[in-house]
Amino acid sequence: TLTLDLTKPGVAVSPLLYGLMTEEINHSYDGGLYAELISNRTFKDNPAAPDGWSLVQEGAGSKGAIKLMAATLDNVPYPERRHAINEALTTCLRLTVEKADGRVGVANEGYWGIPVKPATTYQASFYLKGSGSVPPPRQRPGQPTTPTEPVIEDQTAGPIQVRIESNDGKTVYATGTVNLEKSLYWKKYNLALTTGANVKPTKDARFVISTNRPGLYYFNLVSLFPPTYNNRPNGNRSDLMQMMVDMKPKFLRFPGGNYLEGPLITDAFPWKTTLGPLESRPGHRGSWGYRASDGMGLLEFLTWCEDIKAEPLLGVYAGYSLNGDHIDAGPLLKPHVEDALNEIEYVMGDVSTYWGAKRAADGHPAPFKLTYIEIGNEDWFDRSNSYDGRFNQFRTAIEAKYPQLHCISTIADAQFPNMKVTSGKKPEILDEHYYRNSWDMWQNASQYDSYDRSGPKIFVGEWATREGIPTTNLNAALGDAAWMTGMERNADLIIMSCYAPLFVNVNTATATAKKAWQWDSDLIGYDALTSYGSPSYYVQKLFSEYLGTETVPTTGANIPMRERPRTKRDSTEGTTPKPVPSLFYAATKDAKTGAVYLKLVNTTGQKQPIDINLTGTAKVAPSATLVVLKGTKPEDTNSITEPKKIMPVTSKIKRVAPRFTRTLDPYSVTVLQLQTG
Ligand code: AHR
Repeated sequence: TLTLDLTKPGVAVSPLLYGLMTEEINHSYDGGLYAELISNRTFKDNPAAPDGWSLVQEGAGSKGAIKLMAATLDNVPYPERRHAINEALTTCLRLTVEKADGRVGVANEGYWGIPVKPATTYQASFYLKGSGSVPPPRQRPGQPTTPTEPVIEDQTAGPIQVRIESNDGKTVYATGTVNLEKSLYWKKYNLALTTGANVKPTKDARFVISTNRPGLYYFNLVSLFPPTYNNRPNGNRSDLMQMMVDMKPKFLRFPGGNYLEGPLITDAFPWKTTLGPLESRPGHRGSWGYRASDGMGLLEFLTWCEDIKAEPLLGVYAGYSLNGDHIDAGPLLKPHVEDALNEIEYVMGDVSTYWGAKRAADGHPAPFKLTYIEIGNEDWFDRSNSYDGRFNQFRTAIEAKYPQLHCISTIADAQFPNMKVTSGKKPEILDEHYYRNSWDMWQNASQYDSYDRSGPKIFVGEWATREGIPTTNLNAALGDAAWMTGMERNADLIIMSCYAPLFVNVNTATATAKKAWQWDSDLIGYDALTSYGSPSYYVQKLFSEYLGTETVPTTGANIPMRERPRTKRDSTEGTTPKPVPSLFYAATKDAKTGAVYLKLVNTTGQKQPIDINLTGTAKVAPSATLVVLKGTKPEDTNSITEPKKIMPVTSKIKRVAPRFTRTLDPYSVTVLQLQTG
């Protein structure tokens, strides 16, 4: 029996309870949300080879070659290192065409394919210049020997063919030409490529730029964009944006996660060089084994928030990086504190401020709403205990300039009782992270019921039930839902929460992935062409969509407990998992409309009859909305090939009264929307 006591006041539900967390992991942006289709567009991903690029050579007598040219390398001969466009675009790709019987060109494989859709216009652009071969410079003593290269006459000026085509080159999906001018200097070329109305969607495609004339061709910043969400230039994939919009998130935590910190101090998220035209973004070393193009820069994070109607929750680099190095509080940290203040000014300063004016020049004069700043990420890893001083130095400076902002500490008392921030003022908000299996989630679903209400507020800034690869399965969703009932019941204490990681390009999880696997158990999966939500995604969506403004005190009686079968691992580790309830629940009410949202989680394989008793209300509308997410076994899941196997189903139920019975399906999450008053 569940008794919902409508006579007792509940607690106010934090209006920001459910949000999103994001970082560049699993190809979340490059090869993910950020709609750019060309991988390694500025040729900096690998200093040794042009990853993602290959030579296209057709015609019996054709002869070509491709080569990386890095203007930053001192140990290569002069002609090979003089092709920088500016200080950000220092590496280019050279295509040498000795002979062209047919076409010779360069092909980009995209991020595990280029998505082709019918009647779609793609915007292509690239920097290009052409020349003949350069005579070797006169040798000076001690200089490296110039390799002998064929002498090629410059015939580069003329039409250059641009295509989206099948990987074997036999089917052309979209084509166009630009006219290469005879010039020694870089020039940007733009063109639109449109696919036919009858093209069948595929991702088995490549992007090719080719010629049929000898010469040396140099490429840089090669780009191809499909239509984007809200038609933003340099924008995002529409399907993934829509999935986030549907979740109704209240905030977006960015830019990390580990991605904020960087592997080394020199790799922290470089917000300044992620601003402005793509030409001035050098990209940087990411935290998950691959380079970030920084096409998703600070302003793009902010407009992403705008598009999904979520508030930014900005993480600022706090002088600690993943290799364990930290910068001590005091004068050495001061430039980083200044940097954070400038970053905040870029987000929320008006146009009379230096960085606010810069944002306006970048195309967004209106300041963004900002309430919460997170100082660092997971600083409990810093065994030097320097966070206390670092946090206070940041917080003092931020609050002095922006008294309206609230700073979040990344060390939580409950998780790290021996690492508390003790000097200065007590932190207002603590960020807790939980990555658990489903049993642990069930076992700890009530953990917040007993937290001290006079202590700091809690931000559950990363959490997930980690079962399923690359996206989580139904059992994980049942773990998540149970955990969320605990957060929802305590939504006075838990002011914000966000699941992590949000995105995975499913190719990062395959055995054949050329880029390493990073993190399994993610929320939303995709490849170049399609996307899907995990069962956990639908739980997130349901909990956010059906949420009141205050909790309804709810008590359960006669709820059977479940014993976890002991596994081999338990016996070797000597752990004793505790029994857990077979049902989890939480109820909230919309104070204005009288709607009551009751969430019920049946984690077992049996049906469960529930007697639902609403006290303190004479009237309950006889018709109610019922939403059920369920499966037949805990391992059930969604995937690229079966994207909708586990989906919530909405229906109406009749004969609802202040006391009524519902039978919950096995392995199910149920939401009941009841109208009271
Ligand atoms: O969500 C994946 C990683 O987990 C985050 O980058 C980090 O903050 C945490 O350890």
